[in-house]
Amino acid sequence: MHSYVPEPGTDRLTDPFEGIDPRFVFDFNSYDEPDDDRQRWSTWLSVEPLCRGPEPRPDWVVTSQAAVDTELGVLKTGKEADVFLVERAVPESDAVGESVVMAAKRYRGEDHRDFHRSAGYTDGRRLRNTRDTRAMAKKSAHGRAVAAGQWAWAEWESLKRLWTLGVSVPYPVQIDGTELLMEWITVDGDTAPRLAQTRPEHDLLVSYFDQVRDFLSELARHGMVHGDLSSYNILAAGERLVVIDLPQVIDLVGNPAGMDFLLRDCTNVCRWFRARGLDVDEHAIFGELLTHAF
Ligand SMILES: Nc1ncnc2c1ncn2[C@@H]1O[C@H](COP(=O)(O)OP(=O)(O)O)[C@@H](O)[C@H]1O
Ligand SMILES: [Mg+2]
Repeated sequence: MHSYVPEPGTDRLTDPFEGIDPRFVFDFNSYDEPDDDRQRWSTWLSVEPLCRGPEPRPDWVVTSQAAVDTELGVLKTGKEADVFLVERAVPESDAVGESVVMAAKRYRGEDHRDFHRSAGYTDGRRLRNTRDTRAMAKKSAHGRAVAAGQWAWAEWESLKRLWTLGVSVPYPVQIDGTELLMEWITVDGDTAPRLAQTRPEHDLLVSYFDQVRDFLSELARHGMVHGDLSSYNILAAGERLVVIDLPQVIDLVGNPAGMDFLLRDCTNVCRWFRARGLDVDEHAIFGELLTHAF
């Protein structure tokens, strides 16, 4: 689609292609946005290379320029982020690498309810002109958008690092601003339950605990703490556990509260395993982890 611009000093519209050798002028069909408003062109090629997942890439990652992203619905809404299911597929193709469903975690940049609530507190100090009010509103919306982008980026970095270390986390496919696309963790085609929702029999429970301990110790060995580990941020994909929700990963040594966070993570998971009948103790685990860390 080309636009006609008025010639300076006149209202006459000129054809910007006037005088161009017709051999260089061709008709083209613009890549229309998909008709369905639940769809968009795959954003894989529009993000910077550094915003795409680490190598070696799993064979299911869809990289085709012809792929379309389709919103399948919401998986879970949360305070800071919502998780959706998004299918990325080359239309009419079922081949591996041409069709996949991913989890899309979208951090909330602009929560207008929050803005209105905080406006309530400043009612007595109303700004005189609406321009300032607008600027403030804009500034705080901007501030929230920046914060959301930082959380998304922090989670992206943690996922990439841990996945590369071979730790059981979802494969991070790409990041685009406040949206993180990652491997969808499933059991028999459905979203894997959170550990909190499962009641494993004894042998599986023991194996689950070993996996959680390995996770904690692998992180500690690399100077990291999950920071919000609990049976709600661990998915049970059959016999394998997958740890999620990693925006707040903490530096065990550099952060003055690193040890406190580690003990809290140990306490949260041990409490759940104890409630399921396993005799485990957070202080024993904590001590063991520290010997791995230093
Ligand atoms: N990769 C994933 N695969 C399957 N389910 C997921 C995935 N990521 C998140 N979920 C689901 O979404 C929920 C919220 O995700 P989470 O990362 O824990 O965000 P929040 O900050 O809202 O707790 C999880 O408890 C889980 O049920
Ligand atoms: Mg969570």
